[in-house]
Amino acid sequence: MKNARRSYYSLTLGALAMLVIAGCSSEASIGGISPQKMADSLHAVMEADRTVYTRLIVNRLQNEEKVIKASEHWKDDKALVLPAQMFRFGAERVAENEAGFSYSLQSLWPVNKQNAPKTEAEKTGLKFIAENPGKNYYTEEKLGGVNYFTAVYPDVAVAPACTTCHNKHKDSPRSDFKIGEVMGGVVIRIPLEKS
Ligand code: HEC
Repeated sequence: MKNARRSYYSLTLGALAMLVIAGCSSEASIGGISPQKMADSLHAVMEADRTVYTRLIVNRLQNEEKVIKASEHWKDDKALVLPAQMFRFGAERVAENEAGFSYSLQSLWPVNKQNAPKTEAEKTGLKFIAENPGKNYYTEEKLGGVNYFTAVYPDVAVAPACTTCHNKHKDSPRSDFKIGEVMGGVVIRIPLEKS
């Protein structure tokens, strides 16, 4: 009986997967996925991984159970990689694989000055998402002769680990971040022309 039920579920899942695949290919055949849809989907995965890593690994083991710390100098300190470093290592891996898009974590109040916005679109986008909680920012920009679709998504303090670490960090320009607040943004850039 149990087995019968299990195979029923796997059949249903299989059918669902086929429907999803069929749905995607039919959408692709009528003009493809829009850059915004692509950026939104990529961001959904990034945001999920980032939240899960922060809550289940860093916040639980460092802040709640006090088993191991997260540290910028994770190798020397034999510590957990910071959520921002985890995110950057992923972005670097995507860049190595030439996946056709790029992404980064930035802020108007960066601990690491390299994470400050550089292009006009990044500056305007980060300001917009900080002033309009819950909203994303979408634009197009031309860099090095290539047109890009650029999306900026709010990066929110999802766990106490986020605010406590930034607020007490010696290089942080702000010490008043609160839980639920926008601390920075994820910038996703997709080229609009084939090179
Ligand atoms: C244990 C300390 C620590 C924790 C926990 C932490 N951060 Fe950070 N965060 C940092 C440090 C240090 C950097 C700079 C890392 C780098 O790029 O070298 C950083 C970078 C960032 C950046 C990029 C801009 C900047 O400040 O350089 C954002 C945005 C950010 N963190 C938000 C968050 C959020 C949201 C959380 C929770 C999900 C979080 N951080 C958790 C220490 C921490």
